[in-house]
Amino acid sequence: MAVLTVGGREIACPVSLAPMAGVADSAFRQLCKEFGCGLLTSEMVSAKALTMSDRKTKDLLRRAPIEAPFAIQLFGDDPEIMARAAELVMAWKPDFIDINMGCPAPKIAGNGSGSSLMKNPPLAAAIVRAVVAAVEVPVTVKIRKGWDEHSVNAVEVALLCQEAGAAAVAVHGKTREQMYAPPVDRAVIRQVKEALSVPVIGNGEIDSPEAAAQMFAETGCDGIMVGRGALGRPWLFAQINEYLQTGEVCTRPTPRQKMACLLRQAELAIAHKGEKRAMAEMRKHAAWYFKGGRGASKLRAKAGTLTTYQALEEMTKEALDLGCLENG
Ligand SMILES: Cc1cc2nc3c(=O)[nH]c(=O)nc-3n(C[C@H](O)[C@H](O)[C@H](O)COP(=O)(O)O)c2cc1C
Repeated sequence: MAVLTVGGREIACPVSLAPMAGVADSAFRQLCKEFGCGLLTSEMVSAKALTMSDRKTKDLLRRAPIEAPFAIQLFGDDPEIMARAAELVMAWKPDFIDINMGCPAPKIAGNGSGSSLMKNPPLAAAIVRAVVAAVEVPVTVKIRKGWDEHSVNAVEVALLCQEAGAAAVAVHGKTREQMYAPPVDRAVIRQVKEALSVPVIGNGEIDSPEAAAQMFAETGCDGIMVGRGALGRPWLFAQINEYLQTGEVCTRPTPRQKMACLLRQAELAIAHKGEKRAMAEMRKHAAWYFKGGRGASKLRAKAGTLTTYQALEEMTKEALDLGCLENG
């Protein structure tokens, strides 16, 4: 598998974890790394909040030593504030700064940030230019196919970002209007790849080793980014890497191993956030781990009430007794 080189920095594995606010926290990222994921990215961080020294925002930047290489992702709509925020986060020693141009959430895109930048390519480029000038590390961007089907402009935005100094561009092959609904447009990712000289990372609907191979084959992209497909299944990174290297998948975690993984994620989350907050956030993760087999819906509902690690431990025993993880 080819090494991914971004701005002169080598990333040993070209399969990265997509940034996911409220989900891909330090605990989950650590597990993905243990299963062989390449680049990791922080949850998106508000440039404005950072410059106002918001404590909760700074908490999003904490990570474990294993989380490397690591990008900190910023969102915002003001080049000066984005540049100032990028300077500030250098104290956390990221390997890359990533700029969010894809978030569809109204509270982000409605304020001119995230995917809204797809509607304003000159501003998108000005932000990249300002951030590149502010920091020593390579700056990457994450874009979408376009705002809607009538304004598909990923190639234009990607080219402007490259000209402004971006060291790589990740493309989520969907419009903002689509939000997260399929299909992913791999043809548009291919067009971006053909237009750019910096690395292009393909993103969207990669939920299996075969889908990973398809993204590489159909787009010619230099790397891929896996999001929702890895939720409750961090071992997917090992499976993708095996498949890309040998055409076969060897990692097939047993139900017991899957539950051990869930408990380990909870332990890491507790170490970072304390039991109360960690277990509230682990509810959705537990439900993802329980997805797929017999009895899973009952367990998923129960996961929604989790408050303690002990309750989660009991739930994992119940899952094993029910035998509801075989297909998960
Ligand atoms: C819960 C959730 C949170 C997300 N948060 C971010 C984010 O903070 N920054 C970002 O660039 N994209 C974010 N995304 C988008 C993902 O990075 C990715 O582009 C998208 O999920 C498509 O990939 P997938 O089909 O593999 O999930 C988020 C997606 C989800 C589902």
